[in-house]
Amino acid sequence: MCGIVSYVGSMEAGPFLVETLENLAYRGYDSAGIAVVNSSGELVIEKAPGKLEELEKLLANNMPTGTMGVGHTRWATHGVPTYINAHPHMDCSGNIVVIQNGIIENYLPLKEKLIAEGHQFVSQTDTEVLAHLVEKHYQGDLKEAVKKALVEVQGSFALVFMHKDERYLVAARMNAPLIIGLGYGENYIASDIPALLSKTNKFYILNNGDIVKVAEDIIEVDTFVDGPPISASNRHISIVDWTVEETSKKGYQYYMLKEITEQPRVVHNTTKGRLSPKGDVKLDLAVTDEHLRRAKRIHLVACGTAYHACIYGKYILEEMLGLPVAADIASEFRYRKPVVHPRDLVVLVSQSGETADTLASLDTARELGATSLAITNVQGSSIARHSDSVLYTYAGPEIAVASTKAFIAQLTVLLLLGLYLSDIRGVSSKIDRKQLIKGLNRLPSDIDSLLARQEEFKGLADQILDDEHCYFLGRNLDEPIAREGALKLKEISYIHAEAYAAGELKHGTIALVEDGTPVVAIMTQESVIEKTLSNVQEVRARQARVFGLVCEGTQGIEEHCTSTIYLPRSHRMVMPIMATVPLQLLAYYAALGRGCDVDQPRNLAKSVTVE
Ligand code: M6R
Repeated sequence: MCGIVSYVGSMEAGPFLVETLENLAYRGYDSAGIAVVNSSGELVIEKAPGKLEELEKLLANNMPTGTMGVGHTRWATHGVPTYINAHPHMDCSGNIVVIQNGIIENYLPLKEKLIAEGHQFVSQTDTEVLAHLVEKHYQGDLKEAVKKALVEVQGSFALVFMHKDERYLVAARMNAPLIIGLGYGENYIASDIPALLSKTNKFYILNNGDIVKVAEDIIEVDTFVDGPPISASNRHISIVDWTVEETSKKGYQYYMLKEITEQPRVVHNTTKGRLSPKGDVKLDLAVTDEHLRRAKRIHLVACGTAYHACIYGKYILEEMLGLPVAADIASEFRYRKPVVHPRDLVVLVSQSGETADTLASLDTARELGATSLAITNVQGSSIARHSDSVLYTYAGPEIAVASTKAFIAQLTVLLLLGLYLSDIRGVSSKIDRKQLIKGLNRLPSDIDSLLARQEEFKGLADQILDDEHCYFLGRNLDEPIAREGALKLKEISYIHAEAYAAGELKHGTIALVEDGTPVVAIMTQESVIEKTLSNVQEVRARQARVFGLVCEGTQGIEEHCTSTIYLPRSHRMVMPIMATVPLQLLAYYAALGRGCDVDQPRNLAKSVTVE
């Protein structure tokens, strides 16, 4: 998604904007640009399609000077990625610029009206409408003009305006993330916290409907929707404990590998203070145990990788609690008529805490009167702030588009939640709790031992570099892991990969299996291993190459598989977490071997803040 950065203060804005756009590059983009009010009070705009290097080349001997500016990386929605469509966009007078992340849904009628009134458009974007609309309302006060303009605008957006004659920026948001970083004699605006960590750890996290005047020494928060104005002094300043060091690559070629190797620590941090060595679970939830005891059903809602964590959650929570648990894709949940009772618990799982569909599903859950619980990685994110309670996954900043450590942390938190709920509901005898706690406590060192075997997983990746298709099979708790393995492989290596519940393959998809087709079979669940082995036989009979993942000590597998990967044996609910690691590395080395841009795969964005 688009990245936003802005600055007002006393340092040179241009170099800072470009450097910060680099920090935002992980969000995904296809053009970039900056605008600075220069020392002569003129607006200077520089932009370029393609990677940031193109913009940097342009600015190498031509960096605009000036201490206030805006910068943007664009992920195209309306109009192809060209110079003209890149942000910032300008009004007809050339005095006002705007950068935006999101979608202006009613831009066409607004554009027609503005054209009829004499405004001249140059781009195909929805964003340019905003510049002309503010121009129309401008009478010497940028903030007031933006406020009036936004009354006419429908959509989801985060935006920043700048006027060449006014020494402040105007930021506003509706359903898209935007934060203000607080400095001394300078202030910053950005799409997300990691982008500004080198400058500050103090932030105002904007709410929907906020419009903010940001000068070097003053921040005024107001609202552009109905309701009383909010004073910045009443706003809570979020102090974030992430460090800039955590957002660096630390010598790794790609963030993804760095983040995979951080997973032992992530599991440790996520369980620390929540799981005692004796096995007591403490979660410090804002909702009362009474509420949680009354819940008759649980709905787990998310997108992408986080949705796979939800399917895992469904399996374990049903078994641990004996309650009906549904796992839903957020973009479906929000638009169907889900049956949600006021006594139900709706759990929203999201690394970023800003995914548009997951956020909208939270609204649906709230409208239906259910108790909401966020499982998210970003402190102060929208989903965290608007849920009744939050369980943070302490994965640290995840920069690579392909989610890895956040997924492992989500699975870990779901296990902790299951343990906690089973305790307070008095049903903890349903599982072998002691073994599970042991498995969780040992998980960091078990993951470490897998990380030490990277050459083995790279060797598997080398075997699929030239393949066009790859299938992943799993039953029971291995099924969501098969899905996650397939998603990881396809999103970064562009090998077409699909996952199936192992028993489902013969109902159609097996038609695609032919001599040499690679099939990854995840078989960590011993109660169904014989069943999955039958499905492995079926694909072997069609000459598939099978890579099997099993717990160490499992007998009789090698004769059915082309390669067998033995995983440290642990509790069956912990095994899927373990099986995830080789699949992440398989995808990583396949992408690397195929020369792909591992951290910024084509067409993808890290934080999906549009529908
Ligand atoms: O921030 P979220 O967890 O809500 O993001 C959900 C998905 O967009 C995300 O998991 C996506 O599928 C990743 N690219 C997968 O690697």
